[in-house]
Amino acid sequence: MSGQYSHLIDLNDYPVEWWNKVISLGASIYAHPQRYVQACAGKIMATLFYEPSTRTQMSFQSAMIRLGGSIIGFDNPMSSSVSKGENIKDTTKVVSSYSDILIIRHPMAGTAKAAALTAECPVVNAGDGGHLHPTQTLTDLLTLHMEKGRLDHLTVGLCGDLLYGRTVHSLCKALSCYPGNRFVLISTPELQIPEYITKMLRESGCEFRTETSLDEAIGELDVLYMTRIQRERFLSEAEYLAQKDVYRLTTEKMKRAKPDLAVLHPLPRVDEIEIAVDDDPRALYFKQAQYGMYVRMALILRLLESETALPLLHGVQDEKLCCVNPKCITAQEHYLPRHFIEVGGKTVCEYCEERAVPASAYR
Ligand code: NCD
Repeated sequence: MSGQYSHLIDLNDYPVEWWNKVISLGASIYAHPQRYVQACAGKIMATLFYEPSTRTQMSFQSAMIRLGGSIIGFDNPMSSSVSKGENIKDTTKVVSSYSDILIIRHPMAGTAKAAALTAECPVVNAGDGGHLHPTQTLTDLLTLHMEKGRLDHLTVGLCGDLLYGRTVHSLCKALSCYPGNRFVLISTPELQIPEYITKMLRESGCEFRTETSLDEAIGELDVLYMTRIQRERFLSEAEYLAQKDVYRLTTEKMKRAKPDLAVLHPLPRVDEIEIAVDDDPRALYFKQAQYGMYVRMALILRLLESETALPLLHGVQDEKLCCVNPKCITAQEHYLPRHFIEVGGKTVCEYCEERAVPASAYR
């Protein structure tokens, strides 16, 4: 089992000081990119994208190229041996032996952690199903650092698909670690944030409330994080259609917002922000996408330079338990050791953080 590399699976595996160093390195690279043009000369980054991506994949690739390194990988698994039935373990084992750092995106929660178990180089989670997206969070944090000048004492509204939106989950986990942040969780009852996130907010003593109306909340916000409804994660098209046009940020609504509101969006946008809002100086989402490249340059540098490895699995292995989440990687790749941790008195899967139940009762 691989344990000797510094992976980035969940930002919360690292202390806040580590994130702050990545963010300030990202800011320095943004200010002086020419100083870093040879920083990764001779290094190879592999990108394994089992799900569509524009920004995450291209910003990682351009980050490595701007650092003087090279890139390999696929963005269509069906053009690789995955189409022949190869599992995550074997693909990761081989590709990581060709490269110095491996970036992986997959529709199943927990895949990056599963990949890291066998990888022979650092693994970065570029989105694991509806679970987490830590490098989007680094992007969001660099954007707030640059544009708001702080990461604390902010009233942050998160709006849209809070259930399946992995960027929301990672961002809440991260911002809850800075003092004085308050959260307004704006969604329909069907798309409320998962329980493990509200539990975590409660445990870290963060003030938060759920809200169904963007109109009601917008005036009190310092940051508004809009998200797309995650069509591909719904069990049926009818459920998606019922949710799809509920929230829309318009120039009319922006009139009620603070003059220094920061509007963020991980992108892609569908209809949840009217195009005319793009001309409002408070709309920061395109700048945010650009900061993403600089923070990924910083992340690549830190992970390649790091000499300390974090343990990947902390909990206990118990083959008599299983995870309830059908979209957890353990439901697909049966060789993975079943590992569980205790969170707020509940036993949860260590790969996807969903509930564990006795295997005999479930399958
Ligand atoms: C997000 C993602 O893939 O989770 N996009 C991104 O990486 N910038 C958001 C989304 O797809 O809605």
